[in-house]
Amino acid sequence: MNRSRIIDNAIELPVVTSFSRFGYETRRRLGAWEPLDGYDLHGRVIVVTGATSGLGRAAAEQLARCGATLVLVGRDPERTAETARTLTSLTGNDRVSHWAADMGEHDQVRNLADHILTMHERLDVVIHNAGALTATRRVTSYGTEATVASQVVGPFLLTSLLLDRLEASAPSRVITMSSGGMYAAALQVDGLEMDENSYRGTDQYARAKRAQVVLNEMWAQRCGARGIRFHSLHPGWASTPGVDAALPRFATVMGPILRTPEQGADTLVWLAADDGEPLETNGGFWLDRRLRPIHRLVGTRRSDTPDRRNRLWNLVATLAGCQDPGTDSA
Ligand SMILES: NC(=O)c1ccc[n+]([C@@H]2O[C@H](COP(=O)([O-])OP(=O)(O)OC[C@H]3O[C@@H](n4cnc5c(N)ncnc54)[C@H](OP(=O)(O)O)[C@@H]3O)[C@@H](O)[C@H]2O)c1
Repeated sequence: MNRSRIIDNAIELPVVTSFSRFGYETRRRLGAWEPLDGYDLHGRVIVVTGATSGLGRAAAEQLARCGATLVLVGRDPERTAETARTLTSLTGNDRVSHWAADMGEHDQVRNLADHILTMHERLDVVIHNAGALTATRRVTSYGTEATVASQVVGPFLLTSLLLDRLEASAPSRVITMSSGGMYAAALQVDGLEMDENSYRGTDQYARAKRAQVVLNEMWAQRCGARGIRFHSLHPGWASTPGVDAALPRFATVMGPILRTPEQGADTLVWLAADDGEPLETNGGFWLDRRLRPIHRLVGTRRSDTPDRRNRLWNLVATLAGCQDPGTDSA
């Protein structure tokens, strides 16, 4: 094992060294990372959800700088349009468009897919980044708990609707922003959506993030042969409006060691842009440009059985209103 691997492994174990800006800075230096500005993405079409703030905003700006054709997705039409205008003015890239959709609402996700398919003949990358940790339980208009709806079911539906175009544009990629918080969560199917009595925002969020990572592996197994690469990742801990709003005490106490949004978004952009490992591997879970295990605890590993995985897939497909998107058109 080379020196950089040994040091990376040593800082991976304690969460504080791995997830903080220390982890990012150490690994970037040791790995002699390719600078993101060096990627030329002219001609590549990339969809970014949650592009109006935090990590998604930082990733979109870097992708625009690299010349990509972008579809920015946010919930608020004016805020999303304003983000697109700002990115164009900052980067000089005028191929930045926008579309408003709440990823938790089926009809809006279907409209988003129609828009992408109508406006773009090819589709290189879909980035499922939109997400929030919410203290108060909310359900969507079709009755699914909102965290699960917007971070598990909506992305599943969007991927399903875009599969054929992704296949036609292969090698293409679907990238999902999960969270290190998922390490604490077992794989839940019957308990994927927490009810009113048991709801705790942090637990609900971790369950949804665990489901994202498992579904990412399942998509890769089912669709790898179609030339589509699936990746999930976590950004470490980054200072963003989302963290300030959801975890104000954490944001204050940990402030000095949090990553910048750009540092938190680095691996997301690299997975979208690099034609090496991100195209040579499929289904992996990443932090700081390196594959990471999806379990750190014996209990969560035990929960992750083939039977439970299949039940999760079927549940999410049913909630999304899809048949079997891995093999049929949705
Ligand atoms: N920051 C961290 O340390 C950290 C750590 C682990 C994981 N993450 C993950 O990273 C992703 C980005 O988080 P962030 O920290 O950058 O948060 P953020 O600053 O709050 O940005 C979140 C983005 O997601 C959008 N969004 C939220 N719910 C949505 C929905 N239902 N439909 C469509 N868009 C929605 C927001 O759009 P609006 O403009 O409509 O609000 C916003 O653009 C999330 O998936 C989060 O779970 C972040």
